[in-house]
Amino acid sequence: MTKRLLAILLVLLSSHLTEGQMTNDNPNGSYFSTHPFLWGAASAAYQVEGAYQADGKGPSYWDVWMNKYEIAGPGVTGNVAINFYDRKQYLKDIMLMKQLGINSYRFSISWPRIIPDGVGAVNMKAIEHYRTFIKDLKAAGIEPVMTLYHWDMPQALFEKGGWDVRESVDWFGNYAKVVFDNFKDLVKIYVLCNEMLIETGISFIAEDIIKKEKPNFNVVVPAPDRLERALTQFNHKLLAVAAAGKLFHSYHIPQGEAGVALPLVPTIAVNTESSAAAQFVDGIANRWFLDAIYKGAYPADILEYAKEHHFDLKIQEGDAKEIQGAGLTYLGINYYAPMFVQQDEKSDYYGMSFPHMPNMEYAFNGPNRPDQLERLLLRIKDEYGNPSVIITENGAGFKGDDELKNGQVNDTHRINYLKGHIAAVQAVRKIGGHVYGYHVWSSHDNLEWISGYGSRFGMIYVDFKTQQRILKNSAKYYGAYVRAHR
Ligand code: FCB
Repeated sequence: MTKRLLAILLVLLSSHLTEGQMTNDNPNGSYFSTHPFLWGAASAAYQVEGAYQADGKGPSYWDVWMNKYEIAGPGVTGNVAINFYDRKQYLKDIMLMKQLGINSYRFSISWPRIIPDGVGAVNMKAIEHYRTFIKDLKAAGIEPVMTLYHWDMPQALFEKGGWDVRESVDWFGNYAKVVFDNFKDLVKIYVLCNEMLIETGISFIAEDIIKKEKPNFNVVVPAPDRLERALTQFNHKLLAVAAAGKLFHSYHIPQGEAGVALPLVPTIAVNTESSAAAQFVDGIANRWFLDAIYKGAYPADILEYAKEHHFDLKIQEGDAKEIQGAGLTYLGINYYAPMFVQQDEKSDYYGMSFPHMPNMEYAFNGPNRPDQLERLLLRIKDEYGNPSVIITENGAGFKGDDELKNGQVNDTHRINYLKGHIAAVQAVRKIGGHVYGYHVWSSHDNLEWISGYGSRFGMIYVDFKTQQRILKNSAKYYGAYVRAHR
């Protein structure tokens, strides 16, 4: 072929590519830029499945914390949850989701179901269960978005040091291999790990409860005396994700996508004196992860703090580069609320406090501020090279919003929250942000970790005693929106 012909062909070809395809450098081809926007909902195994000992499942550390130490209160466990492991039940739930019109469902698979001891023998019953579930989802026209790890580490590995030890990277890599071997033909979109930051934060609360010490309920900013351990865990989790990400590429899944779900928290300084404090929180909660993944370096200000405080983070030369080198194909964002930060000389918590702001509507996870989602998405676009993004979680629960009256749940606050955040996503897409999906947390009310069954986040109401489901008004709103925009 002559050079001229080649040039003409290239021009012709590029004029047929969408903007997303041109910028997406996923070597396996991009699922997102060649498929309709994903309008979905999300959940996680421990919060919904129940069946905690079925089909040879091993215990996760959550099973032990809830059953043995009752960290969420007496009798509050995930042993039954919303009975989602039961095929009879989940088929009805898939029908409800189909009725809403969603085309994507983000769920997690349970590591201790698949490898009961964490490493070693694979439990084929669990593999078969999830393969059937995925086929059932697909038969309903719903794309599976599969999370490998949503906090339920096998207890056997937790007892060997869990994320505190670097061996966790190999354990996870081994698990990821089992997952790709068994699901590569069915699943294209993988969330390798959910919210490394919040898992660590909640685990510190749980440890305090177990030791009968007063817990620190700040899950975003680890206490000063635990920051060393938190950053060490984050490095191991990121390396585990990198190992799984590299492996994912070796399978060449056509149009396969692999990313992580980060709980990004825009920080807002309450006054000009507080901007350094807000910057510091941003460094721990956001830049620690984003900079490693997209820049191949941990943020200098946080490393400097660690050095001044003689932390031993066990980071080895090249770790952050390894994480960048894994080449994650998209970023999953879990967004709930921003965090207000105030410099506060009286506080021994890094000399800062996190005030509740007046005149704002507060959900369980913070204030309803869709403008901050827009700000966050613009930041990802402008500072991190406009990667493909899917919103892997967004949603809210409000006190008093989920009361069942005459067979109806009129959750107006949730509807209002969803409307605002969907509008923010649409606004960023209009100006070139590569956002390809949006998942409400959650499809159903479920077990909200340490908060138990009292904090409802679902669009589908669940009567936890009878397992009856009722579509809330938010489900009707979201369904109508999705059907109109698909
Ligand atoms: C996120 C978790 C999810 C759920 C929501 C409300 O931090 O990923 O499991 O608990 O919060």
